[in-house]
Amino acid sequence: MENLSERHEEKFIFLETFGCQMNENDSDRMLGFLKDIKYTRTDRPENADLIIINTCSIRDKAEQKVYSTLGRFRELKKERPWLIIGVSGCVAQQEGAALLKRAPYLDIVLGPHNIHKLKGYLNEVSLERKRVVSTELYDSIEFGEYSYTPVQTGIKAFVSIMRGCNNFCSYCIVPYTRGREVSRQVSDIVEEVVRLARSGVKEVTLIGQNVNSYGGGGLEFPGLLREVARVACIERVRFITSHPKDISEELIYLFKYEPKLCRHIHLPAQSGSDEILKRMRRGYSIEEYRAKVEKIKGLYPDFAITTDIIVGFPGESDLDFERTMELIESVRFDNIFSFMYSPRPKTKAAVMDGHVPLEIRSERLRILQEKQRDITLKRSLELAGKKVEVLVEGRSKGSGLEISGRTSCNRIVNFPGPEDLTGCLAEVVITDVFPNSLRGELVKPFGRNNLN
Ligand code: SAH
Ligand code: SF4
Ligand code: F3S
Repeated sequence: MENLSERHEEKFIFLETFGCQMNENDSDRMLGFLKDIKYTRTDRPENADLIIINTCSIRDKAEQKVYSTLGRFRELKKERPWLIIGVSGCVAQQEGAALLKRAPYLDIVLGPHNIHKLKGYLNEVSLERKRVVSTELYDSIEFGEYSYTPVQTGIKAFVSIMRGCNNFCSYCIVPYTRGREVSRQVSDIVEEVVRLARSGVKEVTLIGQNVNSYGGGGLEFPGLLREVARVACIERVRFITSHPKDISEELIYLFKYEPKLCRHIHLPAQSGSDEILKRMRRGYSIEEYRAKVEKIKGLYPDFAITTDIIVGFPGESDLDFERTMELIESVRFDNIFSFMYSPRPKTKAAVMDGHVPLEIRSERLRILQEKQRDITLKRSLELAGKKVEVLVEGRSKGSGLEISGRTSCNRIVNFPGPEDLTGCLAEVVITDVFPNSLRGELVKPFGRNNLN
């Protein structure tokens, strides 16, 4: 086989990403590393010299998607024998060499801790005709893991502040696919935020599985937030995900003093029943959860709170499910992400008693989602006629005449206005409410567009 780097100058990568923000960030990093060796992204797999599927295995359905996606690309190799196909992300970590067996046309299996080694592996495949499995997990962050050229194009970016998870919630595969929790150094994170700000980014979302247990270089999470908020030209700072057991008073009060911190917190409850929370190993009772939510709502009435719920966890009775319904009805979350429980390999819950039949799980999910749709719409209606601050992200996807952005509490707002407000904060009055977005009218722009 020819050496890819000699074949022609420009090469194309087709990259498909499934799963959470960590995977999106890993995909951006892969593109960054590949940019250094002249790869350009394409949205046409038939033109690609390299195809990577960045996978998620949080639920069985997500995992199955990988196999159907891979099958689609198998034929392309007949036409383009130099084509390299790789699988990265959590399914790669979970399955390792078994993936090569299952898909004989696959060249690279790349676990989440090994992304920065991709360039080297491409050479091994093209020059030495090797098939590579790289799924070691490390307890520390290696030199160079985050030294990539950003491929940032928009005004928003994710910044990974830590990786892995130590919580071992009984249903969850993440501790097995992402390894133990490690925090990046504050200076390293701030440097990345500065680089992003220079390339036009206005909003950063700090990401980790449990950001409240951040501890890098002597600073805890609120300290890191303060450092990041000090970066000039960054208008907004978000973070995700907060574990309810670790969210501190200091963090809750920080919103009072840090105007760049967005008025939104994602606080996954998972269930409204103490019995189920115990079996899930979540480390909090529903009373403790409610107390934290009440505190936030009491201090900041304009705050958005969102959550994750799993229905049909093993042993979940009708009464347990009712408790979850009571929780969502009383808290009135702005939005929830809800899932049917899915047994995952290696996890404790997979071998527990009391698995709930699929029909019941799916019926509970339907009931929950219907209720929440109603709550979300009512919460949105409360915004009608109010003035909100929107960070403009560009032309609206739906209507070419409107521009679009998000409120501090993370709602999408479309409104008529000039595209060159992109990257600016604007004051908008809400005139219409739809299930998934709001429409408004521009009152006045706040800032200067310093993108150009
Ligand atoms: N670290 C985050 C969650 C990451 S996974 C936290 O602790 O909140 C995102 C969501 O997927 C979880 O909050 C949970 O609701 C859901 N999830 C995880 N494992 C699941 C499983 N086995 N079945 C169904 N949903 C699951
Ligand atoms: Fe999974 Fe729990 Fe870790 Fe979240 S905190 S990633 S749900 S083990
Ligand atoms: Fe999926 Fe892995 Fe994220 S399992 S949700 S891609 S950490």
